[in-house]
Amino acid sequence: MPPALALLLLLAVSLAGADDPYRYFTWTVTYGPIAPLGTTQQGILINGQFPGPRIECVTNDNLIVNVINNLDEPFLLTWNGIKQRKNSWQDGVAGTNCPIPPGANYTYKFQTKDQIGTFVYFPSLALHRAAGGFGALNVYQRPAIPVPYPPPTGDFTLLVGDWYKAGHKELRRTLDAGAPSLPPPDGLLINGVRSSPPAFVGDLGKTYLFRVSNVGLKVSVNVRIQGHELRLVEVEGTHPVQNVYDSLDVHAGQSVAFLVTLDKAPLDYAVVVSTRFSPAANLTAVGTLHYAGATARSPGPLPAGPPEGSFEWSMNQARSFRWNLTASAARPNPQGSFHYGTITTSRTMVLESSSAAIAGRRRCAVNGVTFVVPDTPLKLADNYNIANVIEWDSLPLRPTGGGGAPLRAGTPVVRLNLHEFVEVVFQNTENELQSWHLDGYDFWVVGYGNGQWTEMQRQTYNLVDAQSRHTVQVYPNGWSAILVSLDNQGMWNLRSAIWDRQYLGQQLYLRVWTPQQSFSNEYSIPTNAILCGRAAGLPH
Ligand SMILES: *[C@@H]1O[C@H](CO)[C@@H](O)[C@H](O)[C@H]1NC(C)=O
Ligand SMILES: *[C@@H]1O[C@H](CO)[C@@H](O)[C@H](O)[C@H]1NC(C)=O
Ligand SMILES: *[C@@H]1O[C@H](CO)[C@@H](O)[C@H](O)[C@H]1NC(C)=O
Repeated sequence: MPPALALLLLLAVSLAGADDPYRYFTWTVTYGPIAPLGTTQQGILINGQFPGPRIECVTNDNLIVNVINNLDEPFLLTWNGIKQRKNSWQDGVAGTNCPIPPGANYTYKFQTKDQIGTFVYFPSLALHRAAGGFGALNVYQRPAIPVPYPPPTGDFTLLVGDWYKAGHKELRRTLDAGAPSLPPPDGLLINGVRSSPPAFVGDLGKTYLFRVSNVGLKVSVNVRIQGHELRLVEVEGTHPVQNVYDSLDVHAGQSVAFLVTLDKAPLDYAVVVSTRFSPAANLTAVGTLHYAGATARSPGPLPAGPPEGSFEWSMNQARSFRWNLTASAARPNPQGSFHYGTITTSRTMVLESSSAAIAGRRRCAVNGVTFVVPDTPLKLADNYNIANVIEWDSLPLRPTGGGGAPLRAGTPVVRLNLHEFVEVVFQNTENELQSWHLDGYDFWVVGYGNGQWTEMQRQTYNLVDAQSRHTVQVYPNGWSAILVSLDNQGMWNLRSAIWDRQYLGQQLYLRVWTPQQSFSNEYSIPTNAILCGRAAGLPH
């Protein structure tokens, strides 16, 4: 064995179960021409591909991904929905990792510990995501733990989302110059194309799994298949009650997977993705579900989307997503064996998003604080006790006076204890739909509502079988409430999944910690960690 490989294996073994398989990837990130909307533009490619390569792995696999940054800007990838157990070192966001400088590389090493399902990776810095660099990350079950549905004949992965003709630098300039938000998108893509989407090919009578992730910058979408029903079987790594839907709403940053049985006349059927709640850009992308051997298209119009006039339909659908209490997830014990509804919460955070101009530029904020990326990642500042980077507990945990109040810039980190059980309410006081994501966790979405949240709303919570997921939408001028069991020590990003709002400061970090230092709680800093800012040159 070459010494370099031996060393790599040694390093990897030190952070993961030695019995679990390793998968190695070398990814070179470059600019390259793409033309998803017909005209050529500069894309961000991984190994020449847009979207990036699809990772297919199995629960508990160790993924070793060497990312070589050949862009002209610092770069990071984050692994959306991969919990990085005890290992926020590998989360790949500005608060945990130094960016990979142009011309340099960084090797991510992480495990898909106890996870199963449909996930994605994407660039986390500088609106790079607007130019590509994203891809699918599908985690399949171990043979010993069956999924709670008959194994499908095959599966299809659909990365859907809005797209701009303008590049990431131009979009960034727009926001940096003070624009209130990104302009309406120019198109909607399915796996990087709009005009001639690839066929999803299946056999008559067989059942297929469709994995759909919204990798767009901001717009919610609705997904449907002409003449076919969608049986929901996975929501961001957990197994819901298998309801049947005509169509499903998927908001920015979210994933769902559903089964489709090819039990209709053997024809071609439209797979339709359309924008939701986006009057300024009413867009559609159409793919094809092709029955093998079919020679004609199903007659009739494309299936219509759900009503656009109110949020009622969408909110009711969200409430219909329920955890299947008897299904196992990635582990053999039933999901419902954790009785989340009986646990007393240790604290409540009510996080109100807002936006306002500071010095002529629009910023987005949480409880009046707009997040500014520090020169030293928070995780490193914490590890090395570097002063004056982190504002510990400076974020008010209740709203501070509504949308009109002036904003303050900061780098807030909320300190929480390992194994706390916390209620978080996301309050939306604006007219646009929000989407919130928490790294390192999934959480139970116990309620969605209109208007201002009050403690009375707790009486309406679903404390029995609420859907567990990692990204939740918050309807305009409404609220969403989650419960989260803080069992994963680390520095975790809580952020808007609406990407202009994230870029403009609608994010913060949670530090989940215990004074008992132990590798069984958290791994130590990786020996290859890039050190930058005030941590540059310090020993690993
Ligand atoms: C960069 O890649 C080389 C192999 O090409 C590897 O040995 C090295 O560890 C990588 N650097 C980091 C920081 O991961
Ligand atoms: C969007 O366009 C479709 C036709 O392409 C139309 O049927 C639908 O009513 C439009 N929706 C909105 C909200 O404008
Ligand atoms: C829940 O999961 C079980 C597997 O434990 C499965 O047999 C059952 O069909 C699922 N129930 C629903 C309503 O989806």
